[in-house]
Amino acid sequence: MHRLQDLWLFALLVRATKKREGGAHRPRGVQGPEQLYFRQTMTLPGSGRRRSRVRFVLKEKETMKVLTINGSPRRGGNTAGMLSAAEDELRREGIDVERISLGDVDIKPCDACEECHETPWSCPIEDDAIDVLKKMVEADAILIGSPVYFGGVTAQLKALFDRSAIPYQESGLRDKIGGALSCGGVRQGGQELTVSQIITFFMTHDMQVANAGEGSYGAMGVADDEGDISKDEEGLSSARGLGRRTAYLLGKTRQ
Ligand SMILES: Cc1cc2nc3c(=O)[nH]c(=O)nc-3n(C[C@H](O)[C@H](O)[C@H](O)COP(=O)(O)O)c2cc1C
Repeated sequence: MHRLQDLWLFALLVRATKKREGGAHRPRGVQGPEQLYFRQTMTLPGSGRRRSRVRFVLKEKETMKVLTINGSPRRGGNTAGMLSAAEDELRREGIDVERISLGDVDIKPCDACEECHETPWSCPIEDDAIDVLKKMVEADAILIGSPVYFGGVTAQLKALFDRSAIPYQESGLRDKIGGALSCGGVRQGGQELTVSQIITFFMTHDMQVANAGEGSYGAMGVADDEGDISKDEEGLSSARGLGRRTAYLLGKTRQ
């Protein structure tokens, strides 16, 4: 009798769980602060014998966190527009997104004093680098965007890359997912070189790279004056692809 009741309860709860998840085929673990039923086996005090039954407990699903970093000093510029397109896709999947614009923070270049080699998270430079680096370490994935400046990333972003020697000492970014995007003022203005520089940064940290789908290396846009990115549908579409691919990989690797 107990067995039949358990089976009936199990069928009901499986149905309820699938309904909550919006169907069995949606990726699990990336849909936000929902709840999941887990089977739990407990031992009941019996008459001299140990008996166990299946109970169901509710657990909060952990929400994924993605940090996006805008390497441009223009916080509302074209790189920001591309990041927004990627972020919309992530939020659609219930993923938490936080953006840091390097135009809003002060990150100075690395002085090569090597103090962080001796003492973890120690750096004599007084600026915002440690705060930003801690957010990077806390994130499940990091999307980095930069305008093309003379064929590469901005000096602001390169300074952050160099200061990441701090978490590097304890492999703080290892296995995280990273995605790159860039925007240049002209077509073939160095977008691929810039994306490649960001991907190289991910590789140095043993991260995993998300592309924008379709065999691409990342998302790339063409726009010069602030806001012009809204006219570059191809660039925005590649940014959306980067967001979707990041969400997909998070669902695959962070269950
Ligand atoms: C110092 C500087 C260097 C630039 N170098 C390039 C370049 O090498 N190739 C290119 O296509 N655009 C170049 N640009 C144009 C920017 O990449 C372009 O305006 C971009 O949309 C700026 O993005 P933002 O609005 O996010 O700052 C440069 C702009 C500046 C200010």
